[in-house]
Amino acid sequence: RRVKQVINMDVRERIKTVAVLGAGLMGHGIAEVCAMAGYNVTMRDIKQEFVDRGMNMIKESLAKLEQKGKIKSAEEVLSRIKPTVDLEEAVKDADLVIEAVPEVVEIKKQVWEEVDKLAKPDCIFTSNTSTMRITMLADFTSRPEKFAGLHFFNPPVLMRLVEVIRGEKTSDEVMDLLVEFVKSIGKTPVRVEKDVPGFIVNRVQAPASVLLMAILEKGIATPEEVDATVRRLGLPMGPFELVDYTGVDILYNALKYYAQTISPDYEPPKFLEEMVKANKLGRKTGQGFYDWSKGRPQIDS
Ligand code: 3HC
Repeated sequence: RRVKQVINMDVRERIKTVAVLGAGLMGHGIAEVCAMAGYNVTMRDIKQEFVDRGMNMIKESLAKLEQKGKIKSAEEVLSRIKPTVDLEEAVKDADLVIEAVPEVVEIKKQVWEEVDKLAKPDCIFTSNTSTMRITMLADFTSRPEKFAGLHFFNPPVLMRLVEVIRGEKTSDEVMDLLVEFVKSIGKTPVRVEKDVPGFIVNRVQAPASVLLMAILEKGIATPEEVDATVRRLGLPMGPFELVDYTGVDILYNALKYYAQTISPDYEPPKFLEEMVKANKLGRKTGQGFYDWSKGRPQIDS
């Protein structure tokens, strides 16, 4: 009976307005994807400059998509996105919140406690966290049964996969609705039924990341040598370039978390910590394993 109800449920009846919290690399892309699919979107960040930067990234991306004929009108998509620094304004009418704020427990806790007070009682809550336990985040709110993980991949506008992660208290209805929502934005959902560190994709990639960092630590090869070699397999990016692309801090935080939750073998190397301290976070700060100040690095392949 439940399955039948879900099939009949029109996700667009239940979800009309999506609030995306965070206008960074992931947040802006998620907001863009939702608006492209016809949803009304509010995109919120804590400072006007962050919101503006996110809107500029959306504009650049939409212009490319329009030029290629992948969307009819960038203007029309943009008109559905309302940028704001006001959290209440962002979430008060939302039917779904997708949180993509920094991967710091204290920040997530503060945001979710506030959102819980400001959002409508039937609003569904999701987090785009790469690693954190969904159950822990859900418990920062008074509605853990309406809370799930919604994990996009970078860049959200081009990557098809979205993991839908069940926390310990997430209801079946919310899981099913989110699966339908992911389909409605043209993505491929994968249900992750166990709330484990790294979910599926990042957990699979985690051991490779440890060995990758060891290549550098042990002086076996340079990032250029590794990336040029791996790209000869036909992959679009080498692994070091990909770390820069997604964020050195994202990998560092993930490895730290796996070291605490899965095995001490995941402890990140010292040089990675130093890169984070020096703000060498990859593409977003212009410097990581590569110099990104003039765009994507040229790696001979
Ligand atoms: N919007 C619109 N168009 C975009 C875009 C965006 N955000 N980003 C790139 N494009 C366009 C480019 O303009 C380019 O168009 P062109 O061919 O007309 O010039 C086209 O897409 C291809 O881009 P590039 O020429 O820069 O290079 P690639 O062919 O290598 O494609 C890529 C870019 C799709 C990012 C590809 O390199 C790729 O798939 N990389 C791997 C990404 C990946 O694995 N992501 C997952 C990371 S893990 C994660 O996110 C999880 C988290 O928890 C850590």
